[in-house]
Amino acid sequence: MKSAAKKIPAYAGVCSARDAQRTGFGVEEAARRLRRFAYVAQRLAFLATAHLNATPEWEVKQALSLHAWLDAEHATMLRKRVPELRVPEAALNHAPDDFLERALEEAVHSEGTVELLTAIYGVIRPELVSAIDHYLGETNPIADHPSCRALKLIRAEQREMLEWGEAALGAVLAEGVARARSGAWAEHLRAYLGAAGGIGGALLKGGTALPQPRSAQPLQLDFKPRRDQRFHGIFDQSIPADVIYADESRPIEERNLALLFKRLREMDVPEAIAGILAQMPGKPWNFYHDMLRQLWDEARHSLLGEVALEARGIDWTRLPVNVTFSYKLAKFCTPLERHILLFAIEQSLMGAQRGKRWEHSIARDSGDKLSTTFHDFDWADEVLHAAIGKRHLKQLFNGDFNEAFRQADALARRIAERLEHEPMPQDAPLADWWERFAEQALGRKVERAPESDVKQWSPVTQASA
Ligand SMILES: [Fe+2]
Ligand SMILES: [Fe+2]
Repeated sequence: MKSAAKKIPAYAGVCSARDAQRTGFGVEEAARRLRRFAYVAQRLAFLATAHLNATPEWEVKQALSLHAWLDAEHATMLRKRVPELRVPEAALNHAPDDFLERALEEAVHSEGTVELLTAIYGVIRPELVSAIDHYLGETNPIADHPSCRALKLIRAEQREMLEWGEAALGAVLAEGVARARSGAWAEHLRAYLGAAGGIGGALLKGGTALPQPRSAQPLQLDFKPRRDQRFHGIFDQSIPADVIYADESRPIEERNLALLFKRLREMDVPEAIAGILAQMPGKPWNFYHDMLRQLWDEARHSLLGEVALEARGIDWTRLPVNVTFSYKLAKFCTPLERHILLFAIEQSLMGAQRGKRWEHSIARDSGDKLSTTFHDFDWADEVLHAAIGKRHLKQLFNGDFNEAFRQADALARRIAERLEHEPMPQDAPLADWWERFAEQALGRKVERAPESDVKQWSPVTQASA
């Protein structure tokens, strides 16, 4: 019996005897490093949201949305661990080191996709992974097990993000000019990170003079949503999909197709949320964490539309994937007003008659199995978003959500009025795009699509969330 017991792996399988006897470092050092990692993960999430709208490349927007949420998840895991290490929770609301803060402040001043990808995937994220490697290689794996567990989970996802980032950076660095720009920006940021002693702060702080800081100038972020050169009609306001999916006189297959286009177009929602987050500093961390989950969900809903259209052989980049929702909100509303409007939209999707349950039934009744699966999960996500909205606006409205709806209606009216005097930019109209698109997707001719009346803009009818 004794010999059988000896064959069972020791230490609950955590590590080898050699690693178990490693002296490692103490609680204070563990907390010091983890606090820095949490801070960097938070700043990476904010770096992505600050630049999401102005970044034109569709695939970069998708990855920024996912990575912002993953970084927020990682920051949350670390923020949970740090107070277990005799550090007051309030310490997490401040930068752990002025030098580290300066380095990340420089990174937010990245200009254009090449610099942004260089900052995130060429400098900061690789340094974060390397600092985590050092931590795991040095700490005692049993004494500091909760930290090690969190860091191993975090490292796995950080590496996945890095893999995407290195491939994306390789794609945008095809030209010599871009390579030179990327190299110069990486050198600039590494100088600042070096002055902070690296992300772990374990290296000797650099004593050399730093290059001129960009952050000496006020940050000028652009929240106007952009699309890359494949897209046309980004201010197209005909948006017949909103009318078609709700038109019960139309064939169910056409209505399902309209739903898929609505999903694709949802990239506009992460763009609205990114602006809200970037322009509402100083909120409790759980607000940003929740909203970043919603941001990624909405980008994912757009991705579901993309996948479903690709499954039908459609070149979805030729459709008018417009930015009018986030454009109007950013132009005419404060960040809080935008949040209230988003809240009202999410709540409106919960109704049994015309909400997400109904959308799911349209997908199911059309016989499109992929769309049915997608709208089943889309519905579940939206229930979460409705709860997130209530959680974060409850205090503002003293629990009276009818007041929130009244304010949202007033905001929708105000936007419509302002648009009378300050109309949106006009694109060359994509004439008859719905008929051509539907014919290709369904393999048969459809009726001419009705045009929605843009003057009757309401957050409910002209937005998907
Ligand atoms: Fe949503
Ligand atoms: Fe959505």
